[in-house]
Amino acid sequence: MKIVITGANSSVGINLLDHLGRDPAVESIIAGVRSEKAFNSLPSDAKIVPTVIAYDDAAGLEQAASGANVVIHLAGILIENKHSNYATANVAATAAVLAAAKANNAQHFIFISVIGARPDSKNAYYRSKGAAEKLAEESGLNVSILRTPLLLGPSTAGAWSLLGAAKQDEAKVLGGGHYVMHPLDIDDLSVAISNLCKREVSGSTTYELAGPEPIAYCDLIRRFATELGKEIKIGSVPIWLAKIGAAVTSIVKGGGISPTVIDVITTDEKTSHNADSELGVTLTPLQDTISKILRANS
Ligand SMILES: NC(=O)c1ccc[n+]([C@@H]2O[C@H](COP(=O)([O-])OP(=O)(O)OC[C@H]3O[C@@H](n4cnc5c(N)ncnc54)[C@H](OP(=O)(O)O)[C@@H]3O)[C@@H](O)[C@H]2O)c1
Repeated sequence: MKIVITGANSSVGINLLDHLGRDPAVESIIAGVRSEKAFNSLPSDAKIVPTVIAYDDAAGLEQAASGANVVIHLAGILIENKHSNYATANVAATAAVLAAAKANNAQHFIFISVIGARPDSKNAYYRSKGAAEKLAEESGLNVSILRTPLLLGPSTAGAWSLLGAAKQDEAKVLGGGHYVMHPLDIDDLSVAISNLCKREVSGSTTYELAGPEPIAYCDLIRRFATELGKEIKIGSVPIWLAKIGAAVTSIVKGGGISPTVIDVITTDEKTSHNADSELGVTLTPLQDTISKILRANS
């Protein structure tokens, strides 16, 4: 099986490459990144072919996806910056990769989305992921959409934020951190994607894959702190105040934490049905995920 991955240098991509590299059913993986600089972050494995791709170069994308059985589209952002916004990174990039997959008659397009994605969402991030899902659903390809919650693994941004907070004596958290997360171990996501790669699929299916234990963000910080052998006080930053600050700085800086991002990180992650068993995943207990992150960062 030949697989193409976009955003291969993302935290999900690096973990997934590690899983797929060990999978005997996988013969080769085109690891698509936007610059040669990113090659260094990719695992080295004879099966993995680091490849520079540009999302505005249809011919180059088509060439990169040549002969692919499965295309896994990971590239996407939550935090905009001067060079990447939701329209380009989340929507236009998806359209370009779908076109390349179609031109190559790829058998399966797998798209990583987010719990809460909706094309009519009031939130620009969820709306962009919803728009990308819709493009995939309407592409005519066989599509699997995986909606995920906060991802935790040794190199995810979510884990770094939690570790940073847990190391403080007092962590100042948006609204006191009472919003509920369903953190998913990044290895579990890679297992789900690897299993999907081997399935014969028809039409478009959307799955929600969440972690095993719903937990308020403030309690998640406490769990990290306890594991570090610390007691921690959780303070609160009013969400409305943070949004005013974020509105100003994101306009001045042309990106960064914006009110949209604050809405995303302070929204309860709600799942209607967890597809762990359909996807053949045995969910890692949250405590094991936390221990794994601390071991890797010690
Ligand atoms: N991490 C989470 O908790 C989480 C939760 C739900 C869903 N997801 C989804 O899972 C996927 C991977 O997330 P991640 O956290 O692993 O990502 P990440 O580590 O933040 O990496 C982002 C990736 O997107 C690429 N990218 C940035 N701007 C782009 C643009 N304008 N056009 C094309 N590609 C661009 C980056 O390439 P460069 O390095 O070249 O900038 C990088 O490969 C994303 O689609 C994300 O929305 C993640």
